[in-house]
Amino acid sequence: MTELTVNIKEKNFSYPIFIEKKPVSDLKEVVLNSVKNYVVVMSEKVYKIYGKILNFDNVFILKDGENQKNFKNYNRILDFCFKNKLKREDSIIAVGGGVVGDIAGFAAATYMRGINYIQIPTTLLACVDSSVGGKVAVNNSFGKNLIGAFYQPNAVFIFPEFLKTLSLRDFKTGLGEVVKYAFIEKSCDVDFNLLNFLNEHYTKILNYDSAILLELIRICISLKISVIEKDEKENGLRRILNFGHTYGHAIEKLTNYKKYTHGECVVAGIVFAFNLALNNNLIDKNYLFIMQDLIKKFDFKQIPQFDLKKVIPVMKTDKKATSDKIRFILPVNYAAVNEFLFDDLLTIS
Ligand SMILES: NC(=O)c1ccc[n+]([C@@H]2O[C@H](COP(=O)([O-])OP(=O)(O)OC[C@H]3O[C@@H](n4cnc5c(N)ncnc54)[C@H](O)[C@@H]3O)[C@@H](O)[C@H]2O)c1
Ligand SMILES: [Zn+2]
Repeated sequence: MTELTVNIKEKNFSYPIFIEKKPVSDLKEVVLNSVKNYVVVMSEKVYKIYGKILNFDNVFILKDGENQKNFKNYNRILDFCFKNKLKREDSIIAVGGGVVGDIAGFAAATYMRGINYIQIPTTLLACVDSSVGGKVAVNNSFGKNLIGAFYQPNAVFIFPEFLKTLSLRDFKTGLGEVVKYAFIEKSCDVDFNLLNFLNEHYTKILNYDSAILLELIRICISLKISVIEKDEKENGLRRILNFGHTYGHAIEKLTNYKKYTHGECVVAGIVFAFNLALNNNLIDKNYLFIMQDLIKKFDFKQIPQFDLKKVIPVMKTDKKATSDKIRFILPVNYAAVNEFLFDDLLTIS
C-alpha cells in the first residue's frame, strides 16, 4: 500500500490517499474501518460488475452518463441520505468515475452544511484527477460544472484492480489527463520525468499492467497534490491543470458532450496548444514532434480541426476566461507551461 497526503494549509486540513494493491473484495473492510453510518453512491455499471463483491449497504445507484450529474439526482441523493438518517459525523462514499465523485461530493458538501466524504475512484480519470483536489459539482442547462464547491474528501482509496474492467475508450480518456500531466510537470515543481516514463512504458500501460498503472497513478497524483497544495482554489498555479482544456472544453460543448470523451477533447486541446505555441515562437519544432510522437503511441481518437470562427466565441464564454480574453496554458519548454491571454488566436495580449 502506498500512502500520500494532501495538506491544505489554509484550511489546516489534510487527508490521506491510499493506493492499494489489495483485491477489491477487501475494500469494504479497509474503508469502513474509519466510518460510522454511511451512504454509498455508485454508478450503475460499477454496481453491476462489483456490487456483490463490494457488499456495501445503503447504496444509491446512479445511472451512467454525464447528463446524470444533474440537480434531480443531487436531490435524490440528499433524500436518500435523510432516509438513512445520516448525521454530521457520517459519510457519503463515492464509488465510480468522475461523474459519481463530483455529484456525491457536492451532496456531501451541502448535506447539513457538509459531512464526511470518501472517494473510491474506479476510472483512470478519477484515479489520477477528479478524486483528488476537492472540486465537486453538478451540471445545469447553462453548462457543465457550473454549480459546485471546493470540498476536499476525508480520504481517497484507490484500488487499481478496478481499472481491469474499464473499456479501452474510458481508459484512454484518463490517459488524456495523464499525458497532460507529462507536459506540465516541471511547472508543478516536481521531477518524475513522466514524459520518459510514458515513452518507455506505453505498451504496458495500454495492456493495463498492474505494477505500471500503480506507479503511473502515484506519479500523477503526486503532481496534482503539489499544485493544489499551493493553490486550492485555482487563483493562479492550479490553472496549469487546465492545459489542453480551453480548446478541449469548447469542442466538448460544440459536440454536446456526446460525440467525444473529455480525454479525447483534452488531447485535441493539447495538440492545439502546441501549434499555437509554435506559431508564437514559444517552442521549437522538435518539441512539437515529441508531443506528436507520444500522442501517436497511445493512438488517441483523432478529432478533426474545428472551424475557429465557431470555437473562439465558445472559448470566450468559458468560466475560466477573463473579460473578453481567452486564457491559454501553453508549452514554453520541455515539460513546462505558462499562462497567456489572447484577444484572438493570433496575438498574445
Ligand atoms: N472534480 C474534478 O476535479 C474533475 C476533474 C476532471 C473531470 N471531472 C469530471 O469527471 C467526469 C468524467 O469522469 P470519468 O471519465 O471517470 O467518467 P464517468 O464517471 O462517466 O465514467 C465513465 C464510464 O465508466 C464506467 N465505469 C466506472 N468505473 C468502471 C470500472 N471499474 N469498470 C467498468 N466501467 C466503469 C462508468 O459507469 C461510466 O459509464 C466529468 O463529469 C468531469 O466533469 C472532474
Ligand atoms: Zn480534464
